[in-house]
Amino acid sequence: MAPSTNHAAFCPAPGKHLPFTVSPAPYTQPCAGELVIRTHALAVNPVDHMLPDFGTFMFTHIKYPAVFGFDVSGEVVEVGKGVTRFHVGDRVVGCAFGADKERNRNAEGGFQEYVVTMAEHTSPIPDSLSYEQAAVIPLGLSTAAAALFQKDQLALPYPPSNGAQAEEKKKKNETLLIWGGSTSVGSNAIQLATAAGYDVITTCSPRNNSYCQSLGAGACFDYNSPTCVADIAKAFQGKLCAGAVAIGNGGVDRCMDVLARTDQVKMKANRKRFIAMVSFTFPTPMPKSFVFPRFIAWMIYWNSAMAIKG
Ligand SMILES: NC(=O)c1ccc[n+]([C@@H]2O[C@H](COP(=O)([O-])OP(=O)(O)OC[C@H]3O[C@@H](n4cnc5c(N)ncnc54)[C@H](OP(=O)(O)O)[C@@H]3O)[C@@H](O)[C@H]2O)c1
Repeated sequence: MAPSTNHAAFCPAPGKHLPFTVSPAPYTQPCAGELVIRTHALAVNPVDHMLPDFGTFMFTHIKYPAVFGFDVSGEVVEVGKGVTRFHVGDRVVGCAFGADKERNRNAEGGFQEYVVTMAEHTSPIPDSLSYEQAAVIPLGLSTAAAALFQKDQLALPYPPSNGAQAEEKKKKNETLLIWGGSTSVGSNAIQLATAAGYDVITTCSPRNNSYCQSLGAGACFDYNSPTCVADIAKAFQGKLCAGAVAIGNGGVDRCMDVLARTDQVKMKANRKRFIAMVSFTFPTPMPKSFVFPRFIAWMIYWNSAMAIKG
């Protein structure tokens, strides 16, 4: 039975993100292909503060008061027409796309008690995972997968379905650079790339070396070291580079520097020096006044610099 009450955390207006206002919100029944999750846990991602911070000029489609939030886990309370994979009471994790331009509705915002998700963006949770553990997966995993496998990103072949093929692929000695391996996106990217048969070179703080290696990275470099770019380029000697995933402020610039070392970084035949860009490089520190013009000026400068460098 549909619940009679729902509460959501509303962002009242762009640029005014804290505090959110918790107040009653309508309960929305699922349309075809959708389901409703009673939230048990949610995760906060960088985009959740970027949406309200830059809402006035980067996300102009959003209607306020708005319900943000992408990552949710909980139990299914209602399924829409045509949904056969899920049943009421199932433990699930999902990505809520209410802030997406195509969806653009509060019913699909994650920061509320009852969230509508699309069945294709929802997955069952195995018994071994708690709601809290599952909630951190969706956006980080899907961002990593998009960077590695989407046609307009690195377009790498998907992980093979059987281990023997993965072993075969590994023998090709192709190596991927994942800048920012200890981030949420990077942790997912290392595991996906390793499953797809690539050797991974990554960057992180030294305290996270063993963590990244436990996920599958073959070598880790400290991104704060002044010799980081040269050290990584050297590590690529004798290997074929499959491209780079740039995560974290400044990551794209540094990945370009690594791939530009043509004498050391050898690309796979017929492959350009592709970088999947997960993070924009933001000015540091962020401007506190005249944010819009200063941010635009920064973006023009940075994009021009990248175009020249590229
Ligand atoms: N989370 C998502 O779903 C998502 C989706 C799309 C885009 N992004 C973008 O991806 C980036 C990472 O987000 P996240 O949520 O994955 O991060 P996160 O899990 O919060 O990562 C935090 C870690 O990032 C590392 N780090 C900090 N500054 C760095 C830098 N300049 N270069 C490389 N690593 C750095 C630090 O690792 P050490 O402790 O090892 O130094 C820090 O512990 C952000 O720019 C975000 O906007 C994230």
